Amino acid sequence: MIARPTTRAVRVPGDKSISHRALICAALASGRSRVRNILPSADVHSTAGVLRALGAEIQPISDDMRVGGRGLGRLAAANEPLDCGNSGTTARLMSGVLAAHSFASQLVGDASLSRRPMSRVATPLTAMGATFNFEHGDHLPMTITGGALQPIDFVSPTGSAQVKSAILFAGLVARVHVTVSEPVRSRDHTERMLASLGVDVRARGTQVLLEPASELPPFQLDVPADPSSAAFFAGLAAASGVGGGASLDLSDVALNPTRLGFFRILREMGADVSWETEREEGGEPVGTITVVPRGLRAVQVRAEQVPAMIDELPLLACLATLADGETEIRGAGELRVKESDRIAAVVQNLRAVGADADELPDGLMVRGGSRLLGGPVRTHGDHRLAMAFGILGALTGNAIDVDDRECVGVSYPDFWADLARVTA
Ligand code: S3P
Repeated sequence: MIARPTTRAVRVPGDKSISHRALICAALASGRSRVRNILPSADVHSTAGVLRALGAEIQPISDDMRVGGRGLGRLAAANEPLDCGNSGTTARLMSGVLAAHSFASQLVGDASLSRRPMSRVATPLTAMGATFNFEHGDHLPMTITGGALQPIDFVSPTGSAQVKSAILFAGLVARVHVTVSEPVRSRDHTERMLASLGVDVRARGTQVLLEPASELPPFQLDVPADPSSAAFFAGLAAASGVGGGASLDLSDVALNPTRLGFFRILREMGADVSWETEREEGGEPVGTITVVPRGLRAVQVRAEQVPAMIDELPLLACLATLADGETEIRGAGELRVKESDRIAAVVQNLRAVGADADELPDGLMVRGGSRLLGGPVRTHGDHRLAMAFGILGALTGNAIDVDDRECVGVSYPDFWADLARVTA
């Protein structure tokens, strides 16, 4: 008799942050690059669309695609507004690229993106010499007029990879020296990708320094799976096991330490989570995360832990409803300016399904318990809320009705199908 398998495996789609950066670097490279396993999600389509409008030759997004780069500083003015859709990463990273091109570009986005702050990139890029014009506040639509830029030594008030990357791309394209210091180190995919392409970019503690490079070579990259997408299934497996209590292997995941905060906190909650690096890809460690089901206990999340798990905090708040004790997340005010106000929206939804949660100015509290949860969830079009509450709804006995299931297309179009497969 063959034993029933007790471990399931899933390979979630390509990493969103690395996918954006792969397209941008390939468009700036001198020659033709090949990118495999890019994330085929709405946000990545936004970056591809913007780069195409600027003259880069980008094949339709597919598992194995080619990108014809134009060379550093050689993008061409678009004759239409650049539509960043829902994607903050597109808007902010491209701001840095466009600040170093001597033409005007208008960036637009959807209603959610048009509420998000852009002064965080406009301030340092203006100090470098670019001009930013807004129609209202510091929101999209915004027009960037770029040109020759000055070097900058920028001290960032937040640990934000989007801000850091905007400045690094501005320095790269303008061929000027830049340094960025952060209060807490944010994800370092831009640094790793540029370093793997031969650019002199170095970290010194929480500071990053980039030296001017002459050109960016074309490259081949196989995009590893997204730890932020893997986190959903890891959370489910840790809380209850999948498909009747099985363990879970999440394969081919980007194991960049600046992205693993959620997995470290799951361990602190008593979960049996381990990971092992198997290869390196574009400067990123890649390997398997294994989760064996076990109960969870409450945890305290502090400000310095936040950047490495910023996108996983809605999920953590949902899992905290299952954990013994009171979970507190502090120092996470950035959640208020994500795709939705994720502090208010998570707490409202947790209450709507019968959980015990409170808002804090810079975070939230959740009192765990084992009762069943049920009720309507309003995503506000926010993909990570839809998936976090989708996981809560997948737990036996819970009956959660997510209003906008389609919004997962922003980062993980097949989420519901993969969830059904993993839990079957
Ligand atoms: C991202 C950085 C983070 C993260 C976002 C992706 C990136 O934003 O929340 O989903 O790819 O650089 P912040 O830089 O605003 O923290």
